[in-house]
Amino acid sequence: MSSAPDIRRVSSADRDAAIARLTAEWGDPVRVRGETYAFSECEIFIAGDFEGLAAVSLRDRPIAELVAINAFERGRGIGTALIRAAVESLQGFETFRLTTTNDNLDALRFYQRRGFRLAVLRPGAVDATRKLKPTIPPLGDYGIPIRDEIDLVLGLSRG
Ligand SMILES: CC(C)(COP(=O)(O)OP(=O)(O)OC[C@H]1O[C@@H](n2cnc3c(N)ncnc32)[C@H](O)[C@@H]1OP(=O)(O)O)[C@@H](O)C(=O)NCCC(=O)NCCS
Repeated sequence: MSSAPDIRRVSSADRDAAIARLTAEWGDPVRVRGETYAFSECEIFIAGDFEGLAAVSLRDRPIAELVAINAFERGRGIGTALIRAAVESLQGFETFRLTTTNDNLDALRFYQRRGFRLAVLRPGAVDATRKLKPTIPPLGDYGIPIRDEIDLVLGLSRG
């Protein structure tokens, strides 16, 4: 298995391609807890030759929002490297926050292994969003019905 690729910030040359790839995965804007986050307003990190992407919104300072993350080949350390690069960039922020869904057990494991804590459960939040956006599928990972949103947070206070 090859090692994780280097992480870099998106350049002006590949920003449009990165946003197109993120939009294909998640739609744009991303809707969460009643907020919308457009990729055009996010910091974007790229792993190697588009082997992974992460989008981080800085607009809710001192909270930074992980709007999206993808490792297109899993289990190579790409997700870990993207999180590390994002955290290192978040000088002056207190909290790194993200939302996932109840079915995403791999992500819940992944984030908790990397220091994130469960913070908020919104039962039925995905069911409510699906009424506005019927393309959200009924079943997610492991055949689990997608119903709820879960926020996880990582404290960033240093020193
Ligand atoms: C969540 C995600 C970003 C993690 O990225 P990743 O590059 O697979 O993560 P890493 O390789 O750094 O670590 C994955 C963990 O799973 C293990 N793993 C090994 N093989 C794996 C595989 N085939 N698939 C998933 N994880 C695997 C790794 O060893 C590691 O375990 P650890 O927690 O015990 O260290 C990635 O799975 C992904 O893109 N998922 C789909 C999109 C998604 O759900 N995004 C998050 C939404 S909130």
